[in-house]
Amino acid sequence: MKHLYKTAKFENLNPYVQRVREHPLMSVEASGVFEHYKNKKCVVDLGCGNGHFLSQYLEKYPDFVGLGVERRYKRIFKTQKKLEALGARGLRSEIEDFVAMSPENFWDEVWIQFPDPWPKKRHECHRMIRLSLYFHLNRILKPGGRFCFLSDHADYWNHLMEVQTSKGLFPMMQSLQGDLFHSEPPSLFKKLFLQKELPLYSLIFKK
Ligand SMILES: C[S@@+](CC[C@H](N)C(=O)[O-])C[C@H]1O[C@@H](n2cnc3c(N)ncnc32)[C@H](O)[C@@H]1O
Repeated sequence: MKHLYKTAKFENLNPYVQRVREHPLMSVEASGVFEHYKNKKCVVDLGCGNGHFLSQYLEKYPDFVGLGVERRYKRIFKTQKKLEALGARGLRSEIEDFVAMSPENFWDEVWIQFPDPWPKKRHECHRMIRLSLYFHLNRILKPGGRFCFLSDHADYWNHLMEVQTSKGLFPMMQSLQGDLFHSEPPSLFKKLFLQKELPLYSLIFKK
C-alpha cells in the first residue's frame, strides 16, 4: 500500500512539502547529509518531531553536531528552523530508509524517543522497533557509541531487551523501568507523559 506521505494529493494539500523541497539544506539527498557529518562527533534523533529535544540537547552539548530525522514535513521543517542556528540539520526521511542508507561506524549517538506504538496487529508493518532496526543500529554506531531509547510503550522496550538477549550484538546494555535520561532535556512527548504521571521505559545499548 502506498504511504499517505507519498501520495500526490497529500503533497498538493500540504504547503510544507514545497517548503522542505525548496529549503537549500533540506533539499539535499541523504548521501549529501552524511558528508556533512563525516568525521564529526555526531548525534541523530530518529522521529525527532518538532526538534524540541535535539535543539536543547545540542545547546547542552555544543561539541556534538546533530541531525533530526522525521517523516512529517511540517515537523521536520520546524526542526530545521530550530536547528539552523546550532549548525545542525533536519532530514525528511523514513527512519527505515535512513538507517539502511547510513554509513557504518558513523554515529556517536542515535536516539529514539516515544516511537508510535501501532498496537493493532494489522498495523504491525508500521512499527519502528524491529529486528532489522537492531542490526542497523549496531552497524551505524561507532565503536563506543550508544543507542538511547525512551518510551511509554513496554512492548517495544521488552522487544529490544529480548533481541539483545538472543543476538547479543552490543557489549553493554543498560535498561530501566523508569527514565535513564532524567537529567537530559525532555522531548515534547516526554513532557506530556510526565504530566500524566505515566510509566516510562528506557534503555541504552553501547557498542
Ligand atoms: C510520538 S512522536 C515522538 C516525537 C519525539 N521523538 C518526542 O519524543 O517528542 C513520533 C514521531 O516519529 C515520527 N515517525 C514515526 N514513524 C516514523 C518513520 N517510520 N520515519 C520517520 N519518522 C517517523 C512521527 O511523525 C512523529 O513525529
